[in-house]
Amino acid sequence: MTQLKEGAWALIVHGGAKPDDPAEHEANRDGILEAIAAGRAVLEGGGDAVDAVVASIATMEALPVFNAGRGSAPNEAGGIEMCSGLMDGRNLAVGAVGAIRCVAHPVEVARSLLPEKEVLLVADGALEFARAKGHEAVPEGFLKADKPARAEAVHDTVGAVALDGGGNIAAGTSTGGLDGQKVGRIGDSPMPGLGYYADNHIGGVAFSGDGETIARLALASRVMARLEDGEAPEPAIAQVLARLPGTGGADADGGGICITKDGTLGWAHNSPIFAVAYMTHEMDTPKAFLRKDEEQK
Ligand code: GLY
Repeated sequence: MTQLKEGAWALIVHGGAKPDDPAEHEANRDGILEAIAAGRAVLEGGGDAVDAVVASIATMEALPVFNAGRGSAPNEAGGIEMCSGLMDGRNLAVGAVGAIRCVAHPVEVARSLLPEKEVLLVADGALEFARAKGHEAVPEGFLKADKPARAEAVHDTVGAVALDGGGNIAAGTSTGGLDGQKVGRIGDSPMPGLGYYADNHIGGVAFSGDGETIARLALASRVMARLEDGEAPEPAIAQVLARLPGTGGADADGGGICITKDGTLGWAHNSPIFAVAYMTHEMDTPKAFLRKDEEQK
């Protein structure tokens, strides 16, 4: 494996691939910077990549602007069912929850599952596990986004990828689902290889976007294969995202973030907005963007 400089770390987070709503620009930018601050504190303190990813995602789950945790979208029955996945690149451990109700931080429940044999728990089983592990119960109303339902499906899952000072990589996702989704529907977000993946020998990746199409294309595993072949992260993500409309229809879009084992960051999207912030040990302050073309100015 590439030998990184002692203490080198990198963190990239996203607040979702979504339609452009200028009224939410500032809250998105502030939110992803808050998420970076939370993960950065872990990494600068010598913490590991898994804890940094959890800290960043939990921060976004607490902010109603993002469709995860507190900003979740009601399903067709008016209920809230959330999904989250977390992967540790050290040992390929995965903890994931699908269609979980009444917890403030699905990513923390996923974290609790990480040391267990099971990879994914869903619905009542996930909730029972959360209770057994002491995760606080919250009423459904606490999780509902205080915004009007949108005609189009909005898939602004949040995600994070981190590389810690020990060379460990972790990736995670969290989503509040789609407005009006079927009860029990699960997209790409809790599934390793579809919405996220991490392997210390290669890198880590996390996606947001059209969950069914991302799942059908197994986007995360495609990016990992490209990285393993030596492709740079940005073209790797852009190339796999380009498959979305041809597979899922003209509206199928998304965005992805990545860190390679040698600390190279990359992100790409074909959605109107993809709120991304990142920071490495070499930067004094984080950078935050709502679209790729902002970064290129
Ligand atoms: N990408 C999130 C979802 O489709 O549920």
